[in-house]
Amino acid sequence: MSTPADQQQTDSDEWTIGRLLTWTTEFFTERGVESPRLEAEVLLAHCRDCQRILLYTAYDEPADDELRSKFRELVKQRAAGTPVAYLVGKREFYSLEFEVTPDVLIPRPETELMVVALLDHAKQRAGGQLRIVDVGTGSGILAICAARHLPHASITAVDVSPKAIDVARRNAEKHTVTERINFMESDLISGLPDDAEFDFIVSNPPYIKTSELAEIDKSVREFEPMMALDGGEQGTTVIEPLIAAAASRLLPGGVLMMEVSPTIFTRVESLVDTSPLERLETINDLEGRPRVVQAQQEAS
Ligand SMILES: C[S@@+](CC[C@H](N)C(=O)[O-])C[C@H]1O[C@@H](n2cnc3c(N)ncnc32)[C@H](O)[C@@H]1O
Repeated sequence: MSTPADQQQTDSDEWTIGRLLTWTTEFFTERGVESPRLEAEVLLAHCRDCQRILLYTAYDEPADDELRSKFRELVKQRAAGTPVAYLVGKREFYSLEFEVTPDVLIPRPETELMVVALLDHAKQRAGGQLRIVDVGTGSGILAICAARHLPHASITAVDVSPKAIDVARRNAEKHTVTERINFMESDLISGLPDDAEFDFIVSNPPYIKTSELAEIDKSVREFEPMMALDGGEQGTTVIEPLIAAAASRLLPGGVLMMEVSPTIFTRVESLVDTSPLERLETINDLEGRPRVVQAQQEAS
């Protein structure tokens, strides 16, 4: 069967920007790509080094050999499952652009709820410096958004993956907050000094149950780092010790915020209930599903 990508090789002189988009959208649709038109546009805009909106004014422009060959390569990789964010090397989160590589999870829109929750809690604090740690920072999104929006916070960002820490550092540089964040390779908080305590601990930990991994989209399962996804048999392999660590590292009145999946939130709530921390109300995402479990250290 001929594909648009193959067609690009044969009908070279008739290819325009508009026709490339139409063909590729059709091709992606056949291949089960989730947002075929959008992803075709993102890839073509990346190849032309232009904003997506500018494709519309260039609709009738011919696409030269160089552009078509670059685009064809990305289209093939996308059709084989590589997420578009890895192909273009970036993803927007909380209105900032972040570099992403296959060493880090691609930022998800639901994680923006964690930023909103953190900023809400921070607003309720009167003055003083806030100490925040982002556990499992990945591309650095939570630590960097905190640094950008909370100018008086001192921030630590940890990850077990040194390659993720490298990406997070580059993103901090890009957003000019390198001096505000202490990056460290660490298993949870164990690598931090014994006396390091925090007002807020934020984490989007790996939380997919091992049994659920087989059911998730192939482009996630086969391309995103397993270390960022696999939460073990019950989805709480990282969360359980995180709650224990938070109980010893949160300052009086300090808050732990964890992103979870709707399939494990009741278990996470129970884990908090059996810890020394007091559980706060779980925050739902925009689709009404439980998403952020919160716990607070007793105020002194
Ligand atoms: C779901 S990703 C979240 C990345 C980023 N915070 C985000 O929201 O996009 C989880 C991250 O936790 C890291 N991680 C997994 N186990 C860890 C552990 N025991 N200690 C520290 N980081 C861990 C992974 O390497 C990964 O970067």
